[in-house]
Amino acid sequence: MSRSIRIAPSILAADFLHLADQIKECEKAGADLIHCDVMDGHFVPNLTFGPLLIRQLHQITKLELDVHLMIEKPELSLDAYRKAGAAAITVHQETCPHLHRTLAHIRELGARAGVSLNPSTPLELLEPVLGDFDILLIMTVNPGFGGQHFIESMLPKILQADQWRREGVAHFSIAVDGGIDPKTVPLVVESGADVLVAGTAVFEGNIAENIRRLREAAC
Ligand code: DX5
Ligand code: ZN
Repeated sequence: MSRSIRIAPSILAADFLHLADQIKECEKAGADLIHCDVMDGHFVPNLTFGPLLIRQLHQITKLELDVHLMIEKPELSLDAYRKAGAAAITVHQETCPHLHRTLAHIRELGARAGVSLNPSTPLELLEPVLGDFDILLIMTVNPGFGGQHFIESMLPKILQADQWRREGVAHFSIAVDGGIDPKTVPLVVESGADVLVAGTAVFEGNIAENIRRLREAAC
């Protein structure tokens, strides 16, 4: 496989009392990005953290912060996340009635613009904004919690998105999020994914060993 696969540990599964140490371990083990799951208790039933933590993480790591906003009205806080140090900001299609404007706003702020789809949201809804995003984050679980089972019926979505790229319709990276582990990695990589977001599979047990296993599975 010629394209490079990037690994993005999701800190949702980290030990928050030792977060700085765990991020250092990810860095040393060759992680490429740090995936930060922001949840508001409305769009998804869970609640996590906001720009304050992103700012603190930005001070302790050189890795790019990949911020996944699972929140309603994300357009109201894009500036705050960018100022806090987000290199990439991903919004959910389901939360953005003015998706074109929201993606343009993220790019204007100088961040990479990402759009994410829940498992039940069809890929075709993004056709009108092809070219307006840099990252397509395909949810392979229903967002809100770590440790859920990978939904295999999402593979055709990855294949179709990759087909769009091959046809030269648009350039974007394909990220997958949810239930990514050494068993599911070959499936998503063969389908076209190039960013692997993984929480449980990175932070449960030995981080360096876990990242090594994920990378091995991607080859
Ligand atoms: C789920 C989050 C994920 C989550 C994945 O809503 O977006 O990033 O951390 O966790 P695992 O890898 O445990 O499925
Ligand atoms: Zn996520």
